[in-house]
Amino acid sequence: MDKLVIEGGKPLSGTIVIQGAKNAALPILAASLLVEGTVTIDHVPRLLDIKVMLDILRDIGCRADHTDQTVELDTSSACSSHVPEALMRQMRSSIFLIGPLLARFGEATIYQPGGCAIGERKIDLHLQGLKALGAHIKEEGSRIVCVADRLVGTEVHLDFPSVGATENIMMAAVLADGLTTISNAAREPEIQDLQRFLNAMGANIIGAGTDTITIEGTKKLSPCRYKIIPDRIVAGTMMVAAAATRGKVTLQNTNPAHLTSLIHVLRRTGVQITVDGDIIKVGSSSRPKAIDRIVTSPYPAFPTDLQSQLMVLLALASGVSVMKETIFEGRFKHVDELSRMGADIRVDFNSAVIRGVPRLYGATVEATDLRAGAALVIAGLAAQGKTIVEQVHHIDRGYDRIEEMLDGLGARIWRDVPVPDKSSHVM
Ligand code: UD1
Repeated sequence: MDKLVIEGGKPLSGTIVIQGAKNAALPILAASLLVEGTVTIDHVPRLLDIKVMLDILRDIGCRADHTDQTVELDTSSACSSHVPEALMRQMRSSIFLIGPLLARFGEATIYQPGGCAIGERKIDLHLQGLKALGAHIKEEGSRIVCVADRLVGTEVHLDFPSVGATENIMMAAVLADGLTTISNAAREPEIQDLQRFLNAMGANIIGAGTDTITIEGTKKLSPCRYKIIPDRIVAGTMMVAAAATRGKVTLQNTNPAHLTSLIHVLRRTGVQITVDGDIIKVGSSSRPKAIDRIVTSPYPAFPTDLQSQLMVLLALASGVSVMKETIFEGRFKHVDELSRMGADIRVDFNSAVIRGVPRLYGATVEATDLRAGAALVIAGLAAQGKTIVEQVHHIDRGYDRIEEMLDGLGARIWRDVPVPDKSSHVM
């Protein structure tokens, strides 16, 4: 297993170009199955999760090439509606295949998806939405078989504004007969990106970005070329890293409107932020101030995907902060690791009380999930001494070579790749 080695204590400085959004690219790649032909998607980051999605699409019969930041996907030879269990288990986003497969083939066989261990992560809202559109669903252990002679537009109300369920239902409804309305829909920017992509192929969808999305079914889509939005979570991670190391960083290719809640919170801690078009400048030279209360909630509120990273900054703040996590119940696993680095954090159910300390100290820590891993990297950059972050494969799921991004900003960070043990081959 790869490790990241970080010699901390150096302020980040310089300019970084932000990668395309993983959480926009994954549903968009799955949605490409709705059309027969070659779609070209630009600004697709080179990540483990993207590789798994492309492996699934190839297994289904598509031809997929990912060169540099562009994916060319020919879906005309797709011939299977079955996603193998081993691939399903590799990431949560494999669930995005169910809506497009059902719409294209009238059937889909999938398995319970895997993914980051940050909570229960049910898929009942996805399945309820598909059932409302006319799918018959049989769950046999971890196998889920969906069949629909035809999908028919309907009204779907989500009990919770799930991002993935909103996207799956949108994808299934695009080729359905008639009008579908999703109420209490999630409002994340990645859902707006999916709407733009589907409309570029000839779909008729309005409302993404609000809590009501309307999809008028269409008979056939046409292939298109499309560019993915910037990754707001990677941008946010770099902004917090700049602040935690008391550095000065310029981020290019961002959409500041997608980062409003983080910008607001960072300014409250005393970090200086300026915004100019798609450029964000972050600078900090003094100890951050604590924030009495931050609550993670669906967009546009503070995102759960930046909770662990912000916690590192607050762990170094003057004063006591409180963070409440309302989206995933298992998302404080980084707290134990941060404590090993000298942080003073107490967790009570879904709230963390963070008593700022003047400094963190390097330690060997383990990335337990994607964003927890990113938080530990930030902690290592800000800490005194050497930090080793283990289980880096979690971080590779969402950050395109994080050590290269940070090296470009002057950090002392490198990847330690274990040399394969050849002793077993010695005769
Ligand atoms: C997406 C993001 C993830 C982010 C999350 C919340 C992608 C690929 N991933 O994940 O990075 O952390 O949004 O912003 O876009 N739930 C149910 N039943 C369902 C679906 C969800 O109970 O059928 C619950 C989940 O267990 C969780 C909450 O709803 O507690 C939010 O989940 P959801 O919005 O669906 O997140 P994802 O789409 O999995």
